Amino acid sequence: MSEKPKVYITEQIWAEAVDWLQQYCDCTVWAGEGKAPREHLLQVLGNYDGLITTGSAVTIDEALLAAAPRLKLVSTISVGYNHFDLEAMRKAHVIGTHTPYVLDETVADLVMGLMLSVARRMPELDRLVKSGGWNSAAGEELFGIDVHHSTLGIIGMGRIGEAIARRAVDGFGMKLAYYNRSRRPELEERYGADYMQVEELLRQSDYVVLMIPLSDETKHFIRAEHFAMMKGSAIFINASRGATVDEEALIEALRSGQIRGAGLDVYEREPIARNNPLLGMSNVVALPHIGSATHRTRQDMMMLAARNAAAVLTGQGEAYIVKE
Ligand code: DGY
Repeated sequence: MSEKPKVYITEQIWAEAVDWLQQYCDCTVWAGEGKAPREHLLQVLGNYDGLITTGSAVTIDEALLAAAPRLKLVSTISVGYNHFDLEAMRKAHVIGTHTPYVLDETVADLVMGLMLSVARRMPELDRLVKSGGWNSAAGEELFGIDVHHSTLGIIGMGRIGEAIARRAVDGFGMKLAYYNRSRRPELEERYGADYMQVEELLRQSDYVVLMIPLSDETKHFIRAEHFAMMKGSAIFINASRGATVDEEALIEALRSGQIRGAGLDVYEREPIARNNPLLGMSNVVALPHIGSATHRTRQDMMMLAARNAAAVLTGQGEAYIVKE
């Protein structure tokens, strides 16, 4: 019997996913705290055919691939794959896979939560109540703004954008504007969505949701000039990747009152630095990159990453291969 392909997993993941993959591959899971450090991977990867990892664990670049001549597959437990150097992987004949679809609804839930939290100032008011500061009926100084029936602009109308659109239009009666690399006529019909260029979308929207993948082309896609186009009452939400926004420009726009507030799940540097000015702003709701982080969805993502590995390494089923 031929040997099973060997797969290295950079952190403890759902045991059922590992057990399932063991049928087809010989798995080794990093046994230490957190995620396997890059130095460790550089030492051990020479013995492995496949790697299962996450976006925040390690960058898959030329140096790492050079230390892993047997490697045929990197399976990331994320839909985003900006940690893949695709050119280096192509040259090294390493296939990259990711986990689309299974997290769309979960991320869309979080985006709605961010919109509501910033608009209705929930974390701020929660702190007020818990610290004993609720002494009389809430006055105007504690009021927020409406989400329902306002205008939502979605930049990046992929599957997650669509799941947000459905919630916003069907549930909250919002008017929808969107920008995408290609038009989506079926969504225009279904949700009454208006397709427009980014500049126009920014001018018209009460809420701007950024939902684009990070690549060389989309780095700092939203910059100072874009915040200047937004309404002073607008709320900006980013649950895609931090570097799609010029964070300095965002900080300035919030500080100067150019926009009303922001709901953020992602940052240029993660974990965010403790002295990042965003953390001291009461008009910012800051979350620790947890868009897809429900128990159920993370399990689904881990299982899909395991299935992707089996598919590429043993021809067992189909894999979600990263294309560009
Ligand atoms: C993803 O899947 O890309 C999420 O952002 C989690 O990393």
